[in-house]
Amino acid sequence: MDFARLWLGLLLSLVTALDFNYHHQEAMEAFLKSVAQNYSSITQLHSIGKSVKGRNLWVLVVGRFPKEHRIGIPEFKYVANMHGDETVGRELLLHLIEHLVTNDGKDPEITNLIDGTRIHIMPSMNPDGFEAVRKPDCFYSNGRENYNLYDLNRNFPDAFEFNNVSRQPETEAVMKWLKMETFVLSANLHGGALVASYPFDNGVPATGTLHSRSLTPDDDVFQHLAHTYASRNPNMKKGDHCKNNVNFPNGVTNGYSWYPLLGGMQDYNYVWAQCFEITLELSCCKYPREEKLPLFWNDNKASLIEYIKQVHLGVKGQVFDHNRIPLPNVIVEVQDRSHICPYKTNRFGEYYLLVLPGSYVINVTVPGHEPHLTKVVIPEKTQNFSALKKDILLPFQGQLDSIPVSNPSCPMSPLYRNLRSHSAATKPSLFLFLVTVLHIFFK
Ligand SMILES: *[C@@H]1O[C@H](CO)[C@@H](O)[C@H](O)[C@H]1NC(C)=O
Ligand SMILES: *[C@@H]1O[C@H](CO)[C@@H](O)[C@H](O)[C@H]1NC(C)=O
Ligand SMILES: *[C@@H]1O[C@H](CO)[C@@H](O)[C@H](O)[C@H]1NC(C)=O
Ligand SMILES: *[C@@H]1O[C@H](CO)[C@@H](O)[C@H](O)[C@H]1NC(C)=O
Ligand SMILES: [Zn+2]
Repeated sequence: MDFARLWLGLLLSLVTALDFNYHHQEAMEAFLKSVAQNYSSITQLHSIGKSVKGRNLWVLVVGRFPKEHRIGIPEFKYVANMHGDETVGRELLLHLIEHLVTNDGKDPEITNLIDGTRIHIMPSMNPDGFEAVRKPDCFYSNGRENYNLYDLNRNFPDAFEFNNVSRQPETEAVMKWLKMETFVLSANLHGGALVASYPFDNGVPATGTLHSRSLTPDDDVFQHLAHTYASRNPNMKKGDHCKNNVNFPNGVTNGYSWYPLLGGMQDYNYVWAQCFEITLELSCCKYPREEKLPLFWNDNKASLIEYIKQVHLGVKGQVFDHNRIPLPNVIVEVQDRSHICPYKTNRFGEYYLLVLPGSYVINVTVPGHEPHLTKVVIPEKTQNFSALKKDILLPFQGQLDSIPVSNPSCPMSPLYRNLRSHSAATKPSLFLFLVTVLHIFFK
């Protein structure tokens, strides 16, 4: 036994471990660059754009093939700190990065996750806001907004109402990023409450607003996703941990039921980017003191990892023509849960459909042709870091090069506005009234 080497190893691991302090832009960049250098075979660091003040919006990608998409490997993302004064998520994502890269090849669960998933991590979407806050403060402070004083979680196109606010560089960068990758699952990390909140954040009577909620056709999946996160966080799952706040049974809520908002990022992901996103509120205090950070890491580590695994729910595959040429831009939906902007195959002809175990009919439609229906049974037993694989061959003759590439059915305007409704008025909740009066915002 080589004790000297053992001690050196222990010493090195202590020296190199990421500390539990807040990392401002420079320190965060240094850490990310150092990870990208030390673990270059499984990471890729890139900036998706710049904030108003010119700070880079860094994304670190972790995966066996970090530099590009591989067929069959789903794209996952975490985005934190879009509200600059909500700081816990930012530090948790740095610790998550460290945990992933240092356990690759050691912990079989993490190794499998890295083998089968491309994980994109953005510790801060609003670096200017973070730098604008002077010191820890549990309540709202002016770093919530970006440098131009826009709330980035009100800055996206909205599926239910016109959102006429001026689009900010941080938002533009994220929208461009969502076009470049075909993300399947995502979470957006916030603070000021303790709850996992799922779409929709806005709504119309046809999505349930007369009953003080706004639900998607994938509500069972979203509830599962939110429970997956909340049930592994000992304080979140209690549902009433934050004083002077509403109670959330099991630490889960529909976004609209809590309070409606216009122009949020999670609704945008679901409607226009084919990506299921939930909003995670991780701390009663928006900007807690540094001493609390180890506790937050402890409470969230298992949830953060288990949530990434959910990208392997359901069924995935490629759609081919009869010559086995992959078909991009073909509509692939689960029957009876079609999206208002139909989900389509990516440029490799791939689809990923997040559904829970059960029997489903997959409806594959090439515009101008008859739908092609395929039955699938998703087994009860959890898949081993892979969704059920089901390639679909279409019986078409000849090339289908006439499939339109753009998606004219999905302009960035209120698509749900004209859905049939049963009554004219929506009922604002008492909580919404209080929120507006007191100016306390979380998500
Ligand atoms: C990268 O390696 C260098 C040299 O061993 C070490 O000093 C540094 O802490 C490492 N950084 C990370 C993030 O692992
Ligand atoms: C927002 O823009 C839409 C479309 O351009 C327009 O119809 C609407 O009146 C505008 N609303 C406000 C409040 O400016
Ligand atoms: C299949 O999808 C197409 C396009 O979204 C839709 O028009 C059609 O009604 C669907 N057919 C079935 C049987 O669900
Ligand atoms: C699932 O993953 C485990 C852990 O690496 C592995 O040992 C096992 O063989 C895998 N099972 C299947 C069915 O692929
Ligand atoms: Zn927030």
